[in-house]
Amino acid sequence: MTPKVLNAQAAWRTDDLVRDQSWVFQLDDKAQRDLLGALEKTRDGDRSLIDYRRDEFDLGSAWRVINAALDEVKRGRGVALIRGLPREGMDEKQFELLTWAIGLHTGVPRPQGKETQYISAVRNLGTVYRTGTGRGYSSDAELDYHTDTSDVVFLSCYNKAVSGGMTIVTSSHAGYQVMAAEHPELLEWLHRPVAFSRQGEEAPDEGPFVVQPIFDEAEGKVFSRWNWNRVNSAQKLPGVPPLAARHREALDRFDQIIRRPDLAYSMWLQPGEVQIVNSHLTFHSRTEFVDHEDAARKRLLFRLWLAPPDSERLPDSWRDLYRSVEPGAVRGGIRGHNYDEVRRAFEARQASDLGMKMPSARAQVSA
Ligand SMILES: [Fe+2]
Repeated sequence: MTPKVLNAQAAWRTDDLVRDQSWVFQLDDKAQRDLLGALEKTRDGDRSLIDYRRDEFDLGSAWRVINAALDEVKRGRGVALIRGLPREGMDEKQFELLTWAIGLHTGVPRPQGKETQYISAVRNLGTVYRTGTGRGYSSDAELDYHTDTSDVVFLSCYNKAVSGGMTIVTSSHAGYQVMAAEHPELLEWLHRPVAFSRQGEEAPDEGPFVVQPIFDEAEGKVFSRWNWNRVNSAQKLPGVPPLAARHREALDRFDQIIRRPDLAYSMWLQPGEVQIVNSHLTFHSRTEFVDHEDAARKRLLFRLWLAPPDSERLPDSWRDLYRSVEPGAVRGGIRGHNYDEVRRAFEARQASDLGMKMPSARAQVSA
């Protein structure tokens, strides 16, 4: 099977992002003041993040810029950078809430792991990445090129590392084009299902791995998913068939292609910048980093996973992972072990504020 429609804009190369910077957005002084004002008016140290409502934060003139960036992410190149969040003088909690407030206007936040957390502080907690249960965001390791489990991913930068910690984004569609040109005989393997481990974070009603191809289609659009680390982890799980040598060769070739400097765009996120990516059009990674000694200056980013109201239908093969493939659904995330009534009620409120429908309480997992 060859995808009928590739989003031409999404199949960018490094040179394209360098030449045409219209994926980079800048918040001006007024927009920054509007964000500070929204935060000052609403912030209450006694409330937890999931107690806030979207309409409590009036983002003012900043929203026009943020929304334009989101448009680029959803319908353009699948990546955007926003500069000029008012980071100066903010403590970690204030900056986290600012990220959250922007997220509430963007979609329904999705849980991100075993703890069912809706926002992750991305910092080095000494996690060993390459184990059956490792997660990259809490390590200092270089990560495999991968997709996160949500339609839209926010990464806002509070502190950067002493060195390293470059954020890398590559277009999955450009990778596909190169693979088709250089290894047409291996292309079909990218459409064959492969097992991805859930790294031990499965909810009680989920299996330890999902099976899906790297590329699939829905309504004429192409979607991609990739993570070598999770494919290798799955090979150690009972019930997962061993990868055929030819399949492994194809995945290896593809993984090498998407790492090439002419495809993989590296950027060093600065404090006050937020990177937004579309998981269906891009893969991302990060280089190893060296942290500051001073705890207050250590590398810290906040990550949000979001289901926006205007998402497209996903391929059926995505159903196990996203729990729903319906357009505009509250879908994706890693439900984890603490998905309770309080969290479900938060998602339902947020969905209603955005005019979205919640899946039924027993959101189906496909057979
Ligand atoms: Fe990621």
